[in-house]
Amino acid sequence: MLNMGGPETLDDVHDFLLRLFLDKDLMTLPAQSKLGPFIAKRRTPKIQEQYRQIGGGSPIKKWTAHQGEGMVKLLDELSPATAPHQYYIGFRYVHPLTETAIEEMESDRVERAIAFTQYPQYSCSTTGSSLNAIYRYYNSKGINPGMKWSVIDRWPTHPLLVQCFADHIQKELKMFPEEKRADVVILFSAHSLPMSVVNRGDPYPQEVGATVQKVMEKLNFSNPYRLVWQSKVGPMPWLGPSTDETIKGLCQKGKKNILLVPIAFTSDHIETLYELDIEYAEHLGKECGVENIRRSESLNGNPLFSKALADLVLSHLKSNEICSKQLTLRCPMCVNPVCGQAKEFFTKQKL
Ligand code: FES
Repeated sequence: MLNMGGPETLDDVHDFLLRLFLDKDLMTLPAQSKLGPFIAKRRTPKIQEQYRQIGGGSPIKKWTAHQGEGMVKLLDELSPATAPHQYYIGFRYVHPLTETAIEEMESDRVERAIAFTQYPQYSCSTTGSSLNAIYRYYNSKGINPGMKWSVIDRWPTHPLLVQCFADHIQKELKMFPEEKRADVVILFSAHSLPMSVVNRGDPYPQEVGATVQKVMEKLNFSNPYRLVWQSKVGPMPWLGPSTDETIKGLCQKGKKNILLVPIAFTSDHIETLYELDIEYAEHLGKECGVENIRRSESLNGNPLFSKALADLVLSHLKSNEICSKQLTLRCPMCVNPVCGQAKEFFTKQKL
């Protein structure tokens, strides 16, 4: 179960940031081996304060374990022929790290492995970085995998995922005063990307849009909505419109009932619990004079979500395919040779 992960305690924040700013698949910085540690150190106190305000750490490991347990239990029931099923968590920037997970899988003599991204929508900065890490693990050791690998690389429109999002939105809409409900603007908020990533041909914006479209279809287009982008950092241009500017703009136009929907992560993390809940809903909302601003719950412990994960694995196993066709294509303007090598590593696997 691949994800970037999040620091579990305040003491983990520095190493999380350090790994993140050194990740060349996520970003390239001038003199990265020096600048990365410098930025990580400088940002640590600010980010620690944010984690302090959400209870001292990220709940992502707890939720991933919960989801993984639900998933393998269902898989053992639904597919005894491929049992026993086991989940391993492979985070990119905190423990349990992807490399440790692979080591454990190899020593457990796993026969068949699925690199299962926990991001429904594919970006080379997130899922791509995790897949490159798997390739690098074997390449740096000069060994071949002892197990057969395949990849679930994206699932932006999986029907049960869409159902989960739609259910959570409907539940939250009911919390608005009845006379305002039809007027609520739904803001689907996803982590933004630098325009340099978008313009090299990253598929993420389109796939996030696909999820939004399916969720709104499920809701019969009950409310007006927009897809907006959060969490920009640094001075370079990023994909917009930004979530905060959109909240301000809507309030100025008299649209003061807003439902925020995190659409690109499935568990709670700093961007939901701090950025959406505290920074935007609490502080910015007050500043702009919103009437009601709420956030729909992340998928977290929803049993239907574990069912979605099990269904994805099961149909993947039945398909006998290594990965989606889409994964085989590098971004047209990609300049990272590791992307090509990692794709070759996976597509050459024999199931
Ligand atoms: S950046 Fe997308 S394939 Fe390399």
